[in-house]
Amino acid sequence: MAQHVYIADIARHAGEEVTLKGWLHNRSSKGKLHFLKVRDGTGLIQCVVFKGEVDEATFHQADHLPQETAIEVTGTVREDKRSPIGFEIGVQALSVVREPVSEFPLGHKEHGVNFLMENRHLWIRGQRQVAILRIRHTIIKAIRDYFDENGFTLFDAPILTPAACEGTSTLFEIPYFDLGKAYLTQSGQLYGEAGAMALGKIYVFGPTFRAEKSKTRRHLTEFWMVEPEVAFMDLKGDMDLMEDFVSTIVARVLAKHERELRDVLERDVEVLRRVQKPFPRITYTEAIERIRATGHAIEWGDDIGGDEETILANQFDRPVLVHRYPAEMKAFYFKRDPADPKIALGCDMLAPEGYGEIIGGGERETDFDTLKKAMDAHGLTEEAMGWYLDLRRYGSVPHAGFGLGIERTVAWICGLHHVRETIPFARMMERLTP
Ligand code: 4AD
Ligand code: MG
Repeated sequence: MAQHVYIADIARHAGEEVTLKGWLHNRSSKGKLHFLKVRDGTGLIQCVVFKGEVDEATFHQADHLPQETAIEVTGTVREDKRSPIGFEIGVQALSVVREPVSEFPLGHKEHGVNFLMENRHLWIRGQRQVAILRIRHTIIKAIRDYFDENGFTLFDAPILTPAACEGTSTLFEIPYFDLGKAYLTQSGQLYGEAGAMALGKIYVFGPTFRAEKSKTRRHLTEFWMVEPEVAFMDLKGDMDLMEDFVSTIVARVLAKHERELRDVLERDVEVLRRVQKPFPRITYTEAIERIRATGHAIEWGDDIGGDEETILANQFDRPVLVHRYPAEMKAFYFKRDPADPKIALGCDMLAPEGYGEIIGGGERETDFDTLKKAMDAHGLTEEAMGWYLDLRRYGSVPHAGFGLGIERTVAWICGLHHVRETIPFARMMERLTP
């Protein structure tokens, strides 16, 4: 056996004899040639078995191996202009690590989404899914790098919490010893605010949970959210941070994955190239006017739902920031606009092309009495949330932050129809397996 190399590193071994370890993805034949497409997790390469170069048994075997056979292939790395990666392997020897015990359920034909989701543990071996999961990785790495390079400290918030952050209608409740009930976190924000008062600039990054009863292409019950929170930052600073952050992430993904986006995911990368600062900024009131002007019925005070988000986002060629919402429709923690107490100093970022809200955030209420009243109105008790009020008791300062949903961001950047493909194992109302 020659030196084991990964397909991703194949260019460094041109002309050498190497061994690949992987799985048979696909095969075809033409006369005295069998073509084996082998994947090893780092890439996909064509291995050519020529009758004149291998023994009879190997040539026969190369025409009979089923899809997903685990194999080792030894051969010479040859340049090949037609190959998407520029190289192929001229096979000298093949050895089977393990043959499948039965036919791979996801053969190379069309499958329905339900069947694919039931077989998600196998579906992720497909090249499209591999590309998406790699881009997800890059997005997360870019996010961590962005905050790291800008002086933020990672601040881990608890998953088990005593109270709601984003309203009680989507809480997952679990029994919790003698204390009664706990809830899976909907957002790490409130803890992030405590972190910002201790460390100045922090970000919370973790899984969040919402018992979403809506079956839409944008909702999961378990999703990942990154939530920066900054002391002495106002709404304007928050919006500046949002657009700098998102344009940086998109540029990083383009720099690393343009080929996969274009060739594997068939994404229009020109659309992504336009994601440059500054992003348009409109108030909620202006957003309502714009939606009404298209003939769509909506009143001031109504929620801007999925359809309305699409109408609005279609009017811009890059993400749009919608700010200053009616306080009534926003969470208890938003600061009221000093110029108009009906307004909350919140801001959402809507992605273009119908992907909808990817960011929600804003400036937080700093005044003890105002916040206490809002919490009382939401049934948030001193017992569960007194600690949060302490942040206003002891050195309360203006502060702001936001939450970016990872799965919606991956869906938008990759151009996917549904968030179920953006995470290894999506959790939705009707799906808990695999
Ligand atoms: O707008 P949301 O609810 O904001 C918050 O949770 C704030 N506490 C964040 C903060 O200010 N620190 O959620 C933020 C983002 C949304 O814009 C969306 O991208 C994503 O989280 N999100 C979901 N993604 C997938 N499935 C769901 N059910 C989601 N709910 C929200
Ligand atoms: Mg929101």
